[in-house]
Amino acid sequence: MRVIDLIHKKREGGELTREELQFLVRGYTAGEIPDYQMSAFTMAVYFRGMTDAETACLTEAMMHSGGTVDLSRFGKLSADKHSTGGVGDKTSLIVVPVAASLGCKLAKMSGRGLGHTGGTVDKLESIPGFRTTLDADAFLRQVEEVGAAIVGQSGDLTPADKKLYALRDVTDTVDSIPLIASSIMSKKLASGAHSIVLDVKVGSGAFLKTEAQARKLAEKMVAIGAACGRNVTALLTNMDVPLGYYVGNALEVIEAAEMLKGRGCADLKTVCVELASHLVAMCHEMPLSAARAHVEDQLASGAAFETMKKWIAAQGGDARALDDYSLLPQASVQHEVLAPKDGYIAHMDAQKIGEASSLLGAGRAKKEDPIDYAAGLVLRKKTGDFVQKGEPIAVLHTNDASLVAGSEKTLLSAIGWSPDKPQPQKLILGTVTREGGA
Ligand code: URA
Repeated sequence: MRVIDLIHKKREGGELTREELQFLVRGYTAGEIPDYQMSAFTMAVYFRGMTDAETACLTEAMMHSGGTVDLSRFGKLSADKHSTGGVGDKTSLIVVPVAASLGCKLAKMSGRGLGHTGGTVDKLESIPGFRTTLDADAFLRQVEEVGAAIVGQSGDLTPADKKLYALRDVTDTVDSIPLIASSIMSKKLASGAHSIVLDVKVGSGAFLKTEAQARKLAEKMVAIGAACGRNVTALLTNMDVPLGYYVGNALEVIEAAEMLKGRGCADLKTVCVELASHLVAMCHEMPLSAARAHVEDQLASGAAFETMKKWIAAQGGDARALDDYSLLPQASVQHEVLAPKDGYIAHMDAQKIGEASSLLGAGRAKKEDPIDYAAGLVLRKKTGDFVQKGEPIAVLHTNDASLVAGSEKTLLSAIGWSPDKPQPQKLILGTVTREGGA
């Protein structure tokens, strides 16, 4: 088999076989297929798509590119959560401890920032001492004892996705339904959880901009999970505006901690409560309304915050930083962006907001780029707010003053103005669910 023939077949719209996809995934993981050929292949997939059978075979090949985790000892309580990626999306930092505080066992593998979106691993690594690699024994012990562990893509679990994910990030091949579905589901299946909640983002800050595309992705992922015997629920959630007010790694840790202390903002809370409730309902086989009541209680009582502190400390992180934010990385430059005119914010292009944060050092332009954990931005105003000329819309955080001007320009270009108050947007747009084997 020759890689160039497989690239050609896909470029011409052909359907690859299981053996051909396994050959590509194995060869790329082993370093025998170079980045430039895999880039050409992913670009061909981007334009030509994949059939359901190809997506399932690619997922399977990626899942078996490394080891898998056996969570059978936790039965239906083994749980996982994944987002397709958004701006200001710190939901994992909240949903994981909430669900763990209710007895779910979260053994989660997360990714780094991708494109304009942030990644949970980068956010966690902004906490001093936090380790995102654990060996298999330590990982399982922590899930057993604390109820939660989040690791990055280690050498052993789905190494194919680790390489492909970084490659797609810098070759503009992220927003492809089969590539997202196989990336996410290979990780979820290898991680072994029985109950999985997926947050499929829709809108300007998501990889998929329309509800129809997002629903297609959700249906594909739910079907792959169910075929492998897992209970999967996908929520379609609004990503037309950044979630919450903080965007950037350490900044999002602060906003997550605030939410767990009962001081979170409404949009972030709504999405987190919904995701956590579905997970708790699946794990404990209870009605969604009962799960919701439990989740609300854990947030209000501070029980979920206590679980977060235990989890962070168990992975070597300095849990004091969740109370004393000065222990998190700090930006030497904080710059206020002022409104250029009076009016309502009618629209905020969340992708551009993500790019403005990335330009401050919060994201990567190349896969080996370092990250400034303190960088990002805090929105003071969001869609629907009235703003007077000269009022601060956002505060930019960075350690490199030369990055401010470009970021400010991008941020201002993200905002659409109107003299009239815009209609409020729905946050939860739909649900796709299927039980394993169904
Ligand atoms: N999240 C993933 O894990 N993979 C993708 O491709 C996109 C979002």
